[in-house]
Amino acid sequence: MRDVRRDYGQGAPIEIDDPTKPLELLSKWVQDAIDAGVTEPNAMNIATVDARGNPRNRMVLLKHIEGDDIGFFTNLESDKSVEIQGHSMVSATIWWPELERQVRIEGVATQMDRGLAEDYHSSRPRKSRLAAWASDQSRPLGSREELERRFDQYDSKFDGEDIPLPPFWGGYTVRADRVEYWEGRPSRMHERVVLTRSEEGWNLGRLYP
Ligand SMILES: Cc1cc2nc3c(=O)[nH]c(=O)nc-3n(C[C@H](O)[C@H](O)[C@H](O)COP(=O)(O)O)c2cc1C
Repeated sequence: MRDVRRDYGQGAPIEIDDPTKPLELLSKWVQDAIDAGVTEPNAMNIATVDARGNPRNRMVLLKHIEGDDIGFFTNLESDKSVEIQGHSMVSATIWWPELERQVRIEGVATQMDRGLAEDYHSSRPRKSRLAAWASDQSRPLGSREELERRFDQYDSKFDGEDIPLPPFWGGYTVRADRVEYWEGRPSRMHERVVLTRSEEGWNLGRLYP
C-alpha cells in the first residue's frame, strides 16, 4: 500500500457562483458523476454519533437535494436512526474517484416528510419495496433463510397489491450548516472551498489542502 499513489490533475479551480446556494455545486457534481458513468454516483458516507459519543459511519444513497437540504432513505429503527434521534448532528462525505472530487456536508438531520418518503418508496422496484418490509435493519439475524422467509411472506401478503411504505421506513433530511468542496490538483496542491452558515448568511472561504 505504501507505494500506491496517484497524482491528481483533472481539477480546475473551484468557483462558487452564488454562496447563498451552497448545494448548487453539489447538484452539478452529482450530475457530472452521472454523465461520466461513475459507479454509484450518489453513494454517500454518513457519520452519526452513538449514545457513548462514538462515531459510526456507513454508506447510503443520496436521493434528495433541495435548497440547503440533502436527504436519504432508511429504516427508521436502524442503528443510524436511533443514533440520529439521540444526537441529530451528522456529517456526510461523497467521493467520486474518477472525477477526483469530494464533498463534505455537515448539519442537523431531521426525519423527512412522510409524503416525500412515500413518493420515493412508490418509485422503487417491487423487490426493493418488499425488502424494506422484510428487513429488520441493524437487528441480529439468525440465518439467511430467515430473511428470505420474511421476504417471501411479504411477497405473498402483498400479492397483486400495491406495496405501502412500511411505518418503520422513511428518510432523513440534513440541513447543511457547513459544506466543503475538494478537488484533486497536481502535486497534492488540492483545492478546498468551504461554505459555512452564520447568522448573517453563508460565508465562503478556502482552506489549505
Ligand atoms: C453503496 C451503498 C448504498 C447504501 N444505501 C443505503 C441507503 O440508501 N439506505 C440504507 O438504509 N442503507 C443503505 N446501505 C446499507 C448501509 O450502508 C448500512 O449497512 C445499513 O443502512 C445499516 O446501517 P446502520 O446499522 O448503521 O443503521 C447502502 C450500502 C452501500 C454499500
